[in-house]
Amino acid sequence: MKYGYFDDKQREYVITRPDTPLPWINYLGCEEYFGIISNTAGGYSFYKDARLRRLTRYRYNNAPLDSGGRYIYLRDDDALSPQFWSPTWQPTRTELDGYECRHGMGYTVIESTYHGINASARYLVPLGVNLEIWELSLTNRRPTEVNLSIFASVEFCLWDATDDATNFQRNYSVGEVEVADGVIYHKTEYRERRDHFAFFTCSEKWAGFDTDREAFLGRYRGWDSPMGVERGALSNSIAHGWQLIGAMHIKVALQPAERRTIIFLLGYQENLPEEKFDPPGTQTIDKRTVLPIIRRFLQPAVVSTSFIDLQEHWRGLLGKLQVHTPDIHTDRMVNIWNVCQLMATFHFSRSASYFETGTGRGMGFRDSNQDLLGFVHLMPDQARRRILDLAATQLPTGGAYHQYQPLTKSGNNEVGSGFNDDPLWLILSVAAYVKETGDWSILNEAAPYDNLPGSEESLYGHLQRSGRYTLDRLGPHGLPLIGRADWNDCLNLNCFSGSPGQSFQTTTNKDGKVAESVFIAGLFILAAREMVQIAARREDDQVALVYQRALAQMESAIEDAGWDGAWFRRAYDDFGQPVGSKECTEGQIFIEPQGMCVMAGCGIGDTRARQALDSVREKLATPHGILLHQPGYSRYYLHLGEISSYPPGYKENGSVFCHTNPWIMIAEAILGNGSAAHDYYSRINPSKREEISEVHRCEPYVYAQMIAGREAATYGEAKNSWLTGTAAWNYLAVTQWILGIRSEYDGLRIDPCIPPDWDGFDVERIFRGCRISITVYNPQHVSRGVKKMEVDGLPVDGNLLVLEGSPFNHQVHIWMGN
Ligand code: BGC
Ligand code: NOJ
Repeated sequence: MKYGYFDDKQREYVITRPDTPLPWINYLGCEEYFGIISNTAGGYSFYKDARLRRLTRYRYNNAPLDSGGRYIYLRDDDALSPQFWSPTWQPTRTELDGYECRHGMGYTVIESTYHGINASARYLVPLGVNLEIWELSLTNRRPTEVNLSIFASVEFCLWDATDDATNFQRNYSVGEVEVADGVIYHKTEYRERRDHFAFFTCSEKWAGFDTDREAFLGRYRGWDSPMGVERGALSNSIAHGWQLIGAMHIKVALQPAERRTIIFLLGYQENLPEEKFDPPGTQTIDKRTVLPIIRRFLQPAVVSTSFIDLQEHWRGLLGKLQVHTPDIHTDRMVNIWNVCQLMATFHFSRSASYFETGTGRGMGFRDSNQDLLGFVHLMPDQARRRILDLAATQLPTGGAYHQYQPLTKSGNNEVGSGFNDDPLWLILSVAAYVKETGDWSILNEAAPYDNLPGSEESLYGHLQRSGRYTLDRLGPHGLPLIGRADWNDCLNLNCFSGSPGQSFQTTTNKDGKVAESVFIAGLFILAAREMVQIAARREDDQVALVYQRALAQMESAIEDAGWDGAWFRRAYDDFGQPVGSKECTEGQIFIEPQGMCVMAGCGIGDTRARQALDSVREKLATPHGILLHQPGYSRYYLHLGEISSYPPGYKENGSVFCHTNPWIMIAEAILGNGSAAHDYYSRINPSKREEISEVHRCEPYVYAQMIAGREAATYGEAKNSWLTGTAAWNYLAVTQWILGIRSEYDGLRIDPCIPPDWDGFDVERIFRGCRISITVYNPQHVSRGVKKMEVDGLPVDGNLLVLEGSPFNHQVHIWMGN
């Protein structure tokens, strides 16, 4: 069953009923001001950091679902008894005569009709400013004139969202607002150390306003039935403490067929510390910087241009890579939605979604480095900056803070470090950036350790410490020690936690000298191969040799201790016993080492790689995707940690953890099996799963972190949509390994591995400033193999496109075959 459809031409997903199984969201903003918006206008807004600069409140885990948003009410002032509704369905949930929500690239339009009144609200954040626009158009489709009241409202958050939700003894007394010239200003703590405030205003003269929640809603009432709306008049309340809101009331009379557009602005503004107040010495906000911005964006023409500019911005981004294949679901994800999700993971890492509260995890070191793997071609400059920010949270040991806060960019002490895979991901992201851009200068860029001034070293030096970190921490089998966890945050082999509530990630009861990770071993080889190439190009033969040797040693360690007979083992626990082995009663086979070791090239020269992937197919593959491990752990194991805390089939305990599936797609592609690679790709492709939306439940246009596994009661149900490494890895798997368009240090490799029944496909790719048009023909219906390549009409040896000294546009023709 579907709840909408894809409008690929407009690059939109159109939701056709408001009561989707879960709120289906979109993100507004692409620079510093952001918002989350659901298909019924729920969500919240923030500046840079969803925890430290939260503008509006949101109530997670609430009933009804999705409470807190950009709420508009319409009231029929001609009706005999009070009649009001929400044109975005929430919060009144009045049954509408027509409803449609269009989530597009950086904007959302919610349109509805009720008793002949058509309302369309377009929400967007223009480029270059810190505000959001709600553009509301009303059309009277009744045969008679109508008098309407419009109410627009937001609930302000007291900036620090954690504090806002916990420290009520203080918060109920600190809130302050100011109302002047049709603008509501939220200025809590502006009197002291904040030099920022929020504003909420509209293009019409208002009939009244409220800034105190109780005054607007009425005592013990909710957002679904505000007293002010019911009454048709607000009370011009000024809040002193308690809960601050912005609500305004506009009256319009519409003739039959008349259309009226009203612009609402919600924004964030900073003043210089010495220009906070006007006149100086008072407590009144100095509005000289903000008023010109407000005036500008209240003009309909400016709003229209902003929307066009935003679309242009996205067209440019999506234009970096466009494909045309025989599979609509591939095209739709690669050309539109996967990129949209990549932008979200780039901006928010794992911080703010409908599953991440914005107050918990910030930017993950592992996460953001992996997100970059799919992102580097979209905005190389921003990727460069992000890499340097990440490097600055590395520690002198080569380890890294597991997370950092987006606003301050400093490492999160609570979570700390000790996730032993973390530093290696930096090598991979830097390698991806250099391959994409050819910008070797980034390696000479200085970055501090732990953000400490004076500790700066070149990025190249950082990478070497990353590699050393693994080599300094090898266990009894010569495999890397796992530390707190590796990629699987829940495989906590040194945790041994017996007290409820202790953090599995930060509790460490064993000294960690025994438990080893085969996954990190594979990851190390991948990273070390990059180090060999990077060092060689810098003519640093010594370093190249170190990594050459180290990776060969790691290969033998995997061969000796990492192979279980039919698949790669996952780890060794603190007792030196294998995890992910036929010897285990539960958790016999794990997906991660099968993907990672084959990607690293292990077992390709013999039969192990093929055997490992056959075992995956036999034991882990399901119609809903590939499971993380089998069997799931049926009880809690002290020596395994959080992985066994989840009921079997959920999350890290044997769900389809979508992030890992592309590793198997890539591995299959490396072994030349295009059908398997694309088949696995399709099983978790959200667009392909659209038709089972009642089972999948999450948005059909973005990946979710997990799909409940075979052992779960809710098999096939997705959770944790949007902020997951699944976005980057699936994009990588399909574009670089299935379609085979892969940037390398010396150029663009074109090495498809596709289902043999495909006749071919086309790609438009911007690479190092050149526009490359690629046409791939598959006349012999092979899976892999480039028989002939022509660049601009001339035959070329091999399948690497080298650009040196070439013009801007290139036509590449590829004939696959044996
Ligand atoms: C989740 C993991 C996540 C970790 C972050 C765990 O509870 O299952 O997916 O990576 O928390 O701290
Ligand atoms: C989600 C985390 O963000 C990611 O870093 C981790 O690798 C996976 N969960 C698996 O535990």
